[in-house]
Amino acid sequence: MYEEKMRFELTVNGKRQVVYAHPSKTLLEVLREELNLTGTKRGCDDSNCGVCTVLLDGKAVKSCTMLIVQAAGHKVTTIEGLETEKGLHPLQQAFIDHFAVQCGFCTPGMILTAKAILDENPDATEDEIREGLHGNLCRCTGYKSIVEAIEAVRDGDYGDYVINWQEV
Ligand code: FES
Ligand code: FES
Repeated sequence: MYEEKMRFELTVNGKRQVVYAHPSKTLLEVLREELNLTGTKRGCDDSNCGVCTVLLDGKAVKSCTMLIVQAAGHKVTTIEGLETEKGLHPLQQAFIDHFAVQCGFCTPGMILTAKAILDENPDATEDEIREGLHGNLCRCTGYKSIVEAIEAVRDGDYGDYVINWQEV
């Protein structure tokens, strides 16, 4: 088996990163093990639970089944990239305020998926939000509080929705 590491470049949370990894490594493994961005969680490892969700060029992707080869050259946003000097992202604050976080294991992926939903459609209906979240599982909250938090951001409770809150 080919054991050599290869050089990959990608932009993570607005910073250019160079990593050396075996090409069979997933984006999730590189984020957690090479870049110490452990906010991205590992669950099923099979594209089913959504806890590993990150944004790739602004779109929600499951990093457990995306190879680093596929992510190279792209812009990746993880949960660590949402908070800025302005403070928490409105979705982060709304999840706290609406008790949409219990154990928290699903929360990073849930918030990034929510961001992708609202970035694409800032007026998303409840049905559209629920449909957009279908790939993200939560064992704790029953989803109601999660949807309410996203709707609060959509409805302007945290100010006008800003898609480019930070560089994706
Ligand atoms: S760990 Fe990636 S979808 Fe479950
Ligand atoms: S808050 Fe525990 S899995 Fe969602």
